[in-house]
Amino acid sequence: MFNDGIPMTIGAAPTGFTLHDAVTASLPIGIFDSGVGGLTVAVAIRRAMPAEHLLYLGDLARQPYGTKSPATVTRYAVKAAEFLVARGIKALVVACNTASAVALDAIARRFPHLPLLGVVEAGAAGAAAASASGRIVVAATEGTCRSGAYERAIGLRRPEAGVTCVPCPLFVALAEEGLTDGPIVESVARHYLGPLFGAGAAADCLVLGCTHFPLLAPTLGRIAGPGVRLVDCAEATSALLATALAGCPAPAGGTGGLTLIATDAPDRFARIATRLFPALGPVAEVELADL
Ligand code: DGL
Repeated sequence: MFNDGIPMTIGAAPTGFTLHDAVTASLPIGIFDSGVGGLTVAVAIRRAMPAEHLLYLGDLARQPYGTKSPATVTRYAVKAAEFLVARGIKALVVACNTASAVALDAIARRFPHLPLLGVVEAGAAGAAAASASGRIVVAATEGTCRSGAYERAIGLRRPEAGVTCVPCPLFVALAEEGLTDGPIVESVARHYLGPLFGAGAAADCLVLGCTHFPLLAPTLGRIAGPGVRLVDCAEATSALLATALAGCPAPAGGTGGLTLIATDAPDRFARIATRLFPALGPVAEVELADL
């Protein structure tokens, strides 16, 4: 079992491969987010582990998560986990910083034997490694900022670091709208991040602390400026997952795949996913599910 901020105990490589292991190996990896943002993580996982099948749930009916209370996000996140576990998964990736920040422990308690990974730990590790000055800005949702999860996770690695978490809720709506650059994105990004960067600013690292935000990365990088490293938790999360599942073989002869499920507006989800994630190819079908 592994998750953010909690010591991981990952099963060692099996000595004798059993039928149960084979069945487990053939199961997909479950992933969820409130919408399309978590696909930034799914794409990275597909690249790192191409033989695996991914089962992705976008909880469009309940988004955004970032403006909701911790209790509500926890309720939604546990429901999403229950849904994916009932479908059959061998591991669960919470591809949402807000849910990772407030609900990971509740999911771990509900499914104590399920390999579980959140994205905050990966983002924090990336920031701690990327920042020379230790002045780190985290752009995230209100819920993630309120939780203090990034400050804690970065502080464990760089106790001297100064972390400023800035809520950027409109970035989520822009990404869900498929609006990832242009004057509107530029002006919203300046509104949130302009005061933290520019002349005399000490920060040298901007964490994209919401899985929707990498979709706006070119604009955010421009506003942060050339000396600022952008940290996206997707790659680091997929690397952690690959390590964690190293003892669990990929499906035999598998060429991998991605099943998309949405709790509302599946056609819209397919349209935006196709537009924003060319790496996925045309998304023909999104299942509709009620949690
Ligand atoms: N993508 C999510 C995150 O990483 C949630 C965005 C939202 O629904 O507010 O926090």
